[in-house]
Amino acid sequence: MDFPSHVQLIDVGPRDGLQNEKTMVPAATKIELVQRLQSAGLTEIEVTSFVSPKWVPQMADNVEVMAGITRQPGVHYSVLTPNLQGYEAAVKTRPDEIVVFGAASEAFSQKNINCSIAESMERFAPVVQAALAAGIAVRGAISCAVGCPYEGDVAPERVALVARLMREMGVQRVDVADTIGVGTPLKVQRALGAALPHYAIDQVSGHFHDTYGMALANTLAALQLGVWNFQSSVAGLGGCPYARGATGNVATEDVVYMLHGMGISTGIDLDRLIDAGQFISAALGRKPHSRVSHALQAKRTG
Ligand code: HMG
Ligand code: MG
Repeated sequence: MDFPSHVQLIDVGPRDGLQNEKTMVPAATKIELVQRLQSAGLTEIEVTSFVSPKWVPQMADNVEVMAGITRQPGVHYSVLTPNLQGYEAAVKTRPDEIVVFGAASEAFSQKNINCSIAESMERFAPVVQAALAAGIAVRGAISCAVGCPYEGDVAPERVALVARLMREMGVQRVDVADTIGVGTPLKVQRALGAALPHYAIDQVSGHFHDTYGMALANTLAALQLGVWNFQSSVAGLGGCPYARGATGNVATEDVVYMLHGMGISTGIDLDRLIDAGQFISAALGRKPHSRVSHALQAKRTG
């Protein structure tokens, strides 16, 4: 079996993770989290989103957070922008990459961004055009690529359709997202495979929530296809406010442990990453949702 020799991880904890917290996390804590992630060797960090503060009040401090981070050369900072209004606010904060986020399920598109899939593409097109013209990279997320909290199973053809539409409008790479963590390895391979006629393997990433504990298995299944870009959240933070019951992303700590154990490099210092996960978990008043973090912490103190 030929696995990739290097994996690129985007930590989405500050965004996907903290968008879902019931208690407000101060901007200073978010800024420190970003600092700790980059110190641990993360070179891509999804910092925040420029969405409606009425819909997601947790991200209302987006400008403050982007202004507060200390940018490190070689680190790419991305933000979510659902429409031109979000893009125009985001661009002033100098992100390296913006993310338009669509869905493979109609019902989820309506619940999450208040429009149909077709309407979402109309909203994204000018955002993508403006970003590319400004020299900002563009990523697209395809939510509910395996299953939807409202529609159940999602056919790979739905993923293929969204991938094609995103490709046609100029989106440079896509995240195949198991938003509610219901995927199992072969289903995830089929969803990723559905994006591959439209995007090269280097431009497709896996974004797996761990609701059913399948995210590491799904990551391995994606690696078997040659996928080498993934999103994960430090301390397993995460979830989507419009996907009830969905838990966090797979913990970055767990992915890094698995990859390093397979001889696959990530550039990440696992010890420092564990510290970052403990920092944010302590700030939230709980323990990290990461088995690797627990095991290594027990070893440290034991
Ligand atoms: P809408 O209500 O249809 O928008 O919301 P609208 O254009 O009709 O505007 C209504 C109001 O929203 C107006 O304010 C606008 O100014 C304001 P009012 O006049 O009523 O005071 N507004 C905005 N404010 C700030 N920033 C904006 C913006 N746009 C409009 N960009 C909208 C449409 C998309 C904005 C809304 O549905 C929304 O914010 N949804 C939140 C979606 C979200 O953040 N979901 C979580 C992230 S996605 C995710 O987690 C999945 C992912 O991780 C992958 C995976 O796991 O699947 C990426
Ligand atoms: Mg997500």
